[in-house]
Amino acid sequence: AGPCDIYYSGGTPCVAAHSTTRSLYNAYAGALYQVKRGSDGKTQDIGPLSAGGVADAAAQDSFCASTTCLITTIYDQSGRGNHLRQAPPGGFKGPESNGYDNLASATGAPVTLNGKKAYGVFMSPGTGYSNNAANGIATGDAAEGMYAVLDGTHYNGACCFDYGNAEVSSRDTGNGHMEAIYFGDCTAWGSGSGSGPWIMVDLENGLFSGFSAGKNTGDLSISYRFVTAAVKGRPNQWAIRGANAASGSLSTYYSGVRPSGGYNPMSKEGAIILGIGGDNSNGAQGTFYEGAMTAGYPSDATENAVQADIVAAQYTTTSLTSGPTLPIGSAISLRATTACCTTRYLTHNSSNTIVIEVVSSSSSSTLKGQATWVVRAGLGNSGCVSFESKDVPGSYVRHYNFALVLAANDGSKQFREDATFCPQAGLSGQGSVVRSWNYPTRFLRHYNNIGYVASEGGVHVFDAAGTYNDDVSWVVGPGFV
Ligand code: AHR
Ligand code: AHR
Repeated sequence: AGPCDIYYSGGTPCVAAHSTTRSLYNAYAGALYQVKRGSDGKTQDIGPLSAGGVADAAAQDSFCASTTCLITTIYDQSGRGNHLRQAPPGGFKGPESNGYDNLASATGAPVTLNGKKAYGVFMSPGTGYSNNAANGIATGDAAEGMYAVLDGTHYNGACCFDYGNAEVSSRDTGNGHMEAIYFGDCTAWGSGSGSGPWIMVDLENGLFSGFSAGKNTGDLSISYRFVTAAVKGRPNQWAIRGANAASGSLSTYYSGVRPSGGYNPMSKEGAIILGIGGDNSNGAQGTFYEGAMTAGYPSDATENAVQADIVAAQYTTTSLTSGPTLPIGSAISLRATTACCTTRYLTHNSSNTIVIEVVSSSSSSTLKGQATWVVRAGLGNSGCVSFESKDVPGSYVRHYNFALVLAANDGSKQFREDATFCPQAGLSGQGSVVRSWNYPTRFLRHYNNIGYVASEGGVHVFDAAGTYNDDVSWVVGPGFV
């Protein structure tokens, strides 16, 4: 049985069931999600390999070959039509045109389930999905439960990487108008023991880790690579539970009465959000693999059985890179391939801007050093790489406001993540592409001879679709020094 079969048997059926990795019902053979490709804007639904099975990642790989792909829809498997789509502006605007949030890359979170490849939803800051006209999700003080499987190593402190029940207006309509799983190390409201990340509950104008606003030490930091988060609420009662999604059982971090101050009774509105706060706050990051919401308050035993099913699904990591390997420790150059620029190489200039510059064997030794990069294990994820400057040791290529700069490693998590890149097989037939780890819709690109991390056809000038595939394709060669 899948998670939603288990919830059904427990008397608390799923009213929303979302996953890009697998069917959450034994009998479900319909579409799991939809992708849209950059080359021609066409879309394709991706289903499971068989009823109840793992997603058909090969179908996505062939549809998205030699182009970029975004996840446009995460379908609801419950039959209620509670699909998740690009979130609209609310209290806060998203970065896309008309204030919509970004869509996630279709390839940012590769995993395997029981040895079969699938893709999760890797959500960078700015990314968000929602359904503001959902059907059958708890309203008012009605009981509900929810769970999600997340990447416990991908999070930040911004508001709010949530999955669950929120306002139908994408606006903050007051305390108690939300009830959603939160994951991350935001300390603006609540926190738990240790330094995070924590599973908390977003009840609106507050992330709660227990009865009190602020810190509750019963809510333990939880950072397994795969995390199960479970939250539930009914009149004057709610709970937070968490587990390693790859083994073991759920621990209860809180179970008790509601906080005071407008949270009892609750005023749930019954919309669904993913990756954002109730008011479309969209600064958070995280990765979602699967999740569901129920009608009624699931028993601990039902949730324990769902956790056992998740463990049996055997989530495991897989390679984040493809194409030619860049050996750690090697000194390399990256040559542009666009017709304009085939004698130009990725270079830092004396003001630490990353540009493409004509370099040859007769160039000055200064320029040769500026155009040579030492491949290091990825500072933010060792499955990818970072590029250390040959002539300025300790300084790396990073993006900032999506422009590439050379900067000294300041040791911060933000720096490490901004300086991590995942090489991929090329898009244009020559060379490799270099994907930003923390913004996987974005690839290292030159535009007017300046370096960026750019998304195909995005809102910035440097995201322009023309010559995108060529501009992001680089021939990796030996360093100049
Ligand atoms: O409750 C925390 C956040 O506060 C909510 O997600 C958001 O709507 C508000 O900014
Ligand atoms: O480059 C995009 C973002 O800009 C980086 O992640 C962050 O460091 C800066 O705010």
